[in-house]
Amino acid sequence: MSQIRLTSNLSTNNEQASIDPQKVAFAESDILSKLLRLDQALYVVQNGEAVGVCLAEDLKDSVAGTSMSLLSHVEPLHVGQLGDPEFMRAYGINMAYMTGAMANGIASEELVIASGKVGLLSSFGAAGLVPPRIEEAINKIQQALPNGPYAFNLIHSPSEDAIERGAVDLFLKHGVTTVEASAFLGLTPNIVRYRAAGLRLNAQNQVEIGNRVIAKISRTEVASKFMMPAPATILQQLLSEGSITEEQARLAANIPMADDITVEADSGGHTDNRPLILLLPTILALREQIQAKFGYNQPIRVGAAGGIGNPASALAAFMMGAAYVVTGSVNQSCVEAAASAHSKSLLAQAEMTDVIMAPAADMFEMGVELQVLKRGTMFPMRAKKLYELYKNYESIEAIPQEEREKLEQQVFRSSIDEIWRQTEEHFNARDPHQIERVKDNPKRKMALIFRWYLGLSSRWSNFGEQGREADYQIWAGPAMGAFNYWVKGSYLEEVSNRKTVEVAWHIMTGAAYLYRLRLLQIQGIWLPPACEMYVPQPFSV
Ligand SMILES: Cc1cc2nc3c(=O)[nH]c(=O)nc-3n(C[C@H](O)[C@H](O)[C@H](O)COP(=O)(O)O)c2cc1C
Repeated sequence: MSQIRLTSNLSTNNEQASIDPQKVAFAESDILSKLLRLDQALYVVQNGEAVGVCLAEDLKDSVAGTSMSLLSHVEPLHVGQLGDPEFMRAYGINMAYMTGAMANGIASEELVIASGKVGLLSSFGAAGLVPPRIEEAINKIQQALPNGPYAFNLIHSPSEDAIERGAVDLFLKHGVTTVEASAFLGLTPNIVRYRAAGLRLNAQNQVEIGNRVIAKISRTEVASKFMMPAPATILQQLLSEGSITEEQARLAANIPMADDITVEADSGGHTDNRPLILLLPTILALREQIQAKFGYNQPIRVGAAGGIGNPASALAAFMMGAAYVVTGSVNQSCVEAAASAHSKSLLAQAEMTDVIMAPAADMFEMGVELQVLKRGTMFPMRAKKLYELYKNYESIEAIPQEEREKLEQQVFRSSIDEIWRQTEEHFNARDPHQIERVKDNPKRKMALIFRWYLGLSSRWSNFGEQGREADYQIWAGPAMGAFNYWVKGSYLEEVSNRKTVEVAWHIMTGAAYLYRLRLLQIQGIWLPPACEMYVPQPFSV
């Protein structure tokens, strides 16, 4: 019996070709190897009862073969055909694929440079780093990739405007021409300054956008702010401060704030946990409304992030209309990521259900949570306990003695007095105002003490602090488990083989591979079940 199943009568096409039967694949494993040849058109042929496949090259010089019915065919497909070619042109890249920032330099210089060298776009994890460290990264990346592509993360800092402003100063000073803007709730003068300061009119009287913004959002109201031109009030303020010119203010009023909007669904780290399958079409519809209203010369592109962990999820995003896809979680387990070996090995063992929401250090008091790994670490449980205590008590002193002792022994491994001493030292060096605000506010003091643990647990994970493994805070979303499931048994199961570029290549190649399968399926041609799996093979380029 034929291993290819037909659910519609395609032989009525009645197209015949003369083919050497030796060149037609009828068995599962042979069919699979023909399907993997994405550079070749693939033909589905029928010889009597048997249905098989052959490549365009197999059809050549087959005049002396057997006459078979040509049931259907699919065209060659390369990874560069997925997504919006304008996205690739704008950033000078080969695939509509980007790796998102990972804070504290987890998305390291090595990662960004490895991607950039082969024409992929990666965003450096500038969040949480001090300005001299960001500057060091800019220098290193610009030296390795003088013509790009690369991006830097500009993260909104609700409580520390100076940090956001300082990052923009650095980006403008060093000519960083692409930022991935994230965590914004609305537009700030900093992001508007970055955008407007890069505008100019060229000799043909056209607006040239020098500073590109890829805005990552998970809500329609924030998306619409980035899809519209900068607000007149902010432009006016920047103009009166002398931060932008009159021409720049005028030009900024006619272009959107962002070139690209990354729709972020359920992801690692900060997330609204929305399903991509619903969020992406909604933001695409919003884009259409805004485009109809403003008639931009270059419509805003909309990409997809959150849950891209295997070829099928990437293909789903493209099929829904994503201009590009963005991965995050999967890259933290890659060799170039600045996470510890222990964290990477925990990530590589994770299943999809091994992630959970836990309190975030930066917005702890507000009860904001982020998505982290729960298997192999007690961090989520301990962080939740801290938040519970914070909610229930007005000060450290009000916490029952027994609970306090437990905290000191199990979580802090030090006296609370000692933790407060370290906290004061930290903020006095970085932001003394935080310590000022604690006076007469014991609840706030308690928050700062608890944030000592929340802040350090990320560092322990990144630097591989020995003895603190049970407290590692490792950001990850369900994409990590889905990725591990997909690569099980392949060379990418082994962490030391996970190179960012190869992961990217296989996700995209697998998506292209699956696309042709779906095209055949829609025509009523069902390939054997084993062909459904695109298994990554080691790179040989
Ligand atoms: C460890 C880690 C750190 C992250 N840090 C940041 C960050 O600093 N800034 C940011 O914009 N996004 C950050 N993200 C989000 C990623 O850039 C990306 O948008 C997201 O991970 C995509 O979803 P996924 O995790 O489902 O792949 C982080 C994600 C992870 C896993």
